[in-house]
Amino acid sequence: MIKGIRGVPDILPDETGKWQALEAVARDVLDRYGYAEIRTPIFERTELFVRGIGEGTDIVEKEMYTFEDRGGESLTLRPEATASLMRAYGEHNLGAKSSLVKLYLIGPMFRHERPQSGRFRQFHQIDVEAIGSPGPAVDAEVVVLLHHLLEAWGLGGVTLRINSIGDRTCRPAYREAFVAYLGGRREGLCADCHVRLAKNPLRVLDCKQPGCREIAAGAPTIPQYLCEACRDHFAAVRGLLDGLKIGYEVDERLVRGLDYYTRTTFEFLNPALGAQNAVAGGGRYDGLVEELGGPPTPSIGFAIGEERILTSLLAQAGPSETPLLTGVYVATVGGVDAGQAMALAQTLRRRGLRSAVDLEGRSLKGQMRQANKDRFRYSLILGTEELNRGQVTLKDMADGSQQEIPLAEAADRLACMPPREVV
Ligand code: HAM
Repeated sequence: MIKGIRGVPDILPDETGKWQALEAVARDVLDRYGYAEIRTPIFERTELFVRGIGEGTDIVEKEMYTFEDRGGESLTLRPEATASLMRAYGEHNLGAKSSLVKLYLIGPMFRHERPQSGRFRQFHQIDVEAIGSPGPAVDAEVVVLLHHLLEAWGLGGVTLRINSIGDRTCRPAYREAFVAYLGGRREGLCADCHVRLAKNPLRVLDCKQPGCREIAAGAPTIPQYLCEACRDHFAAVRGLLDGLKIGYEVDERLVRGLDYYTRTTFEFLNPALGAQNAVAGGGRYDGLVEELGGPPTPSIGFAIGEERILTSLLAQAGPSETPLLTGVYVATVGGVDAGQAMALAQTLRRRGLRSAVDLEGRSLKGQMRQANKDRFRYSLILGTEELNRGQVTLKDMADGSQQEIPLAEAADRLACMPPREVV
């Protein structure tokens, strides 16, 4: 059989329930904060990501799934959602109605990274963006929202790290100081960081090589270089988070892997996840829309890695709960027409019950085995002799007890019976 691609996992039927539950909670919480869903295509012009995410980033340099379509145009599977979302925001003039537009997107992203635990080539994000406002209150609410989501999922043991990486006014001075510092320590840097030093020096702060980490640990940090406006903004964000009782740690070396960030950046980490421990990350990106050719549009957002949230929840869960017994299996015996069972099952479904019938000509024993396996609460057994008297047999699958009931009342009676827990 042809196999799937490494790092591009299937989500199997016994896992999809957890994904649906995760996303249902997210939609509910996002709705309470006034966010509306947007769905953009999974591929875009390559140029969007190159200009949006930044040429010297790992994503653009080595991780994009880029291809030429039949018309010779260079297209790329989206490696993240922010650039696509801002394109759509500008293209459809979504800012016309409100100065602050709150949007979210749930869907797959694609990065050609080395697959490992918690790192996939197709993965899923819940991406959230507050577009159009520069004020620190928006930063604080966005972080509070992310905190709320993690809490609503019951995720424990996560820590929040925040930083400010300055803006167009103050970052150049920092960059200069950082490059000067690294210049004297070149020989200790890995080969990748030599390239970074030339193209995008701040990426050295992101390198995981022990030698580079050691050098980065002694480097000047951005907060020392922030201009007054950035310093005030960061102080205001921290003040609001303190007031809202959101615990965080300021990490002066948090730069994040995408070039569009300005000012506030943040990440939630789950140390229990090992190397790939960021469950969500984001920040302000006041210059991105201009970079894409649009008007100044100060914005902030984050993305949550759904796989990493689900892995975290699984790791902290106790023994899994046994699902309740629900619904009604309609069985036949003694040559009763399968069509009659199908019609009854259809009535029960219309009354809101889960129901199934045998479609494979099984014996009554086989049908009961299937009803148990599929965790049905009741079976209704249609037999020729009972049907002639207008009766059917109702079997309680929890204790095996049986009783005859009038066929005409079956749907009404079953629609009122509660599900039952049985181990
Ligand atoms: P990011 O930090 O690249 O940010 O990704 C956000 C989250 O996606 C990560 O914290 C992680 O949980 C998950 N993630 C990233 N790569 C992978 C992977 N290969 N496998 C599994 N999970 C992964 C962004 O994408 C920004 N667009 C976030 C943002 C939105 N900033 C502002 N608005």
